[in-house]
Amino acid sequence: MLIPEKEKAKVRTKNKVKTVTYKIDDKYKSIGKNKSYFIKTYGCQMNVHDTENIKAILEQMNFRESDDMEKADLILLNTCAIRENAHNKVFGMLGRIKHMKEKRPNIIAGICGCMAQEEGVVDEILNKYKWLDIVFGTHNIHELPMILDENIKNKSLEVRVYSCEGDIVEDIPVKRDSKYKAWVNIMYGCDKFCTYCIVPYTRGKQRSRNPKDIIREVEKLKEAGYREVTLLGQNVNAYGKDLEIDYDMSDLLRDVANTKIDRIRFVTSHPWDFTDSMIDVISKYNNIMPYIHLPLQSGSNKILKLMGRRYTKESYLELFDKIKNKIKNVSITTDIIVGFPCESEEDFNETLDVVKKCKYDSAFTFIFSPREGTPAAKMKDDISSKEKEDRLQRLNELVNDYALEANKKYLGKRVKVLLEGESTKDKNYLMGYTDTMKLVNVKASKDMIGNIVDVKITEVHTWSLDGEM
Ligand code: SAH
Ligand code: SF4
Ligand code: F3S
Repeated sequence: MLIPEKEKAKVRTKNKVKTVTYKIDDKYKSIGKNKSYFIKTYGCQMNVHDTENIKAILEQMNFRESDDMEKADLILLNTCAIRENAHNKVFGMLGRIKHMKEKRPNIIAGICGCMAQEEGVVDEILNKYKWLDIVFGTHNIHELPMILDENIKNKSLEVRVYSCEGDIVEDIPVKRDSKYKAWVNIMYGCDKFCTYCIVPYTRGKQRSRNPKDIIREVEKLKEAGYREVTLLGQNVNAYGKDLEIDYDMSDLLRDVANTKIDRIRFVTSHPWDFTDSMIDVISKYNNIMPYIHLPLQSGSNKILKLMGRRYTKESYLELFDKIKNKIKNVSITTDIIVGFPCESEEDFNETLDVVKKCKYDSAFTFIFSPREGTPAAKMKDDISSKEKEDRLQRLNELVNDYALEANKKYLGKRVKVLLEGESTKDKNYLMGYTDTMKLVNVKASKDMIGNIVDVKITEVHTWSLDGEM
């Protein structure tokens, strides 16, 4: 049993990060014979992509995928720890799985992902959820075959979670959800330690992948017919800072652009590390999408300081304007937290003021959720939940107005859309995204899926556009 420890998760070692290659032992390859698996994924794109790896590992072990949890032999929850409600959803689901296991005791049930990295969560599992079979963390997905094997041999709960990150593991197999769009990790972990955030504890220290490995992955994706890649990291602008070579995010963007893959985007950008050379590269290459997610979190300098964000309202606005002016037709989205400890009505108004100035294309908005072990969880939180709800609602109304306003600019325009699949609203329509990440529903036949097509926008809504070829 290997249990995560809060104190160790904070530590940033000077240990050199090695790159190792994944390989599965033949002895594990028949474990899943005649068995099916079901995975439910919570959280961010990082987890979505981890699930793609987990699926492929399970299929190497001969499991086959099932979309019906009630019938699956192996059930995994890939969890998120970012806010309280993410936690609650998982514990609710565990209740359901327990009932299933009472009826079908042979089911193997487990949790992985960011919650598994939390000491408190694993303690709770060991107390109240002993009937679970496996728990593994974000740093040892590659050990899944061995973990399953141990559980089956010993018929007991197998917990294997490293508190600290280890090596970068290359060549983990991947079963991608899409044939056209692919997630590509460029780095793991985060060293920013924003005071409210659990990610630096659940994902470990920043480790950049070797540029050669990233470029090789993108080239292979292009050869396989992929049209778009999303470069993934919690703070992609800091890419390369931990490498021994002199190579940063602007170098990587340039080299990925030179693979000539049709579309490249990246998430997420911390405003602190956004350099002029990045802006230059993005504006120079047509295949880098003019779409930037630039989390604001708060517009108040007092709150930004308490959050440990290392920029001010003024420097954020300066960066925002630079991006808007230099990158043609850029669309910018953001994340905002309301109700952070000590946020006064004045502080909140500063946030509204930035939203009014930036007129974001869209924003993800959250009520502050204290996370165990983070500095903000210990700050005095004296805002009532009614007040927090009220601020969230006022913020959302403003954000929605600007989202519609931004979409209105598209009316009558011709845009390029990567058609991904059938639209959920009407079977005669296909859906896809512009290079500015606007969702578009287009009347088109199914054989157009996977193409980047010219679309004329005929109608606009707050969250989507309608158009015709
Ligand atoms: N690495 C990204 C953020 C990943 S988490 C970045 O720095 O931009 C996604 C968003 O969740 C954050 O931008 C923040 O707005 C929100 N978030 C993170 N921790 C939170 C907490 N404790 N309570 C509420 N929202 C939080
Ligand atoms: Fe969390 Fe801040 Fe790191 Fe983003 S940059 S993952 S908000 S600590
Ligand atoms: Fe959640 Fe972990 Fe992502 S906490 S937001 S799944 S990095």
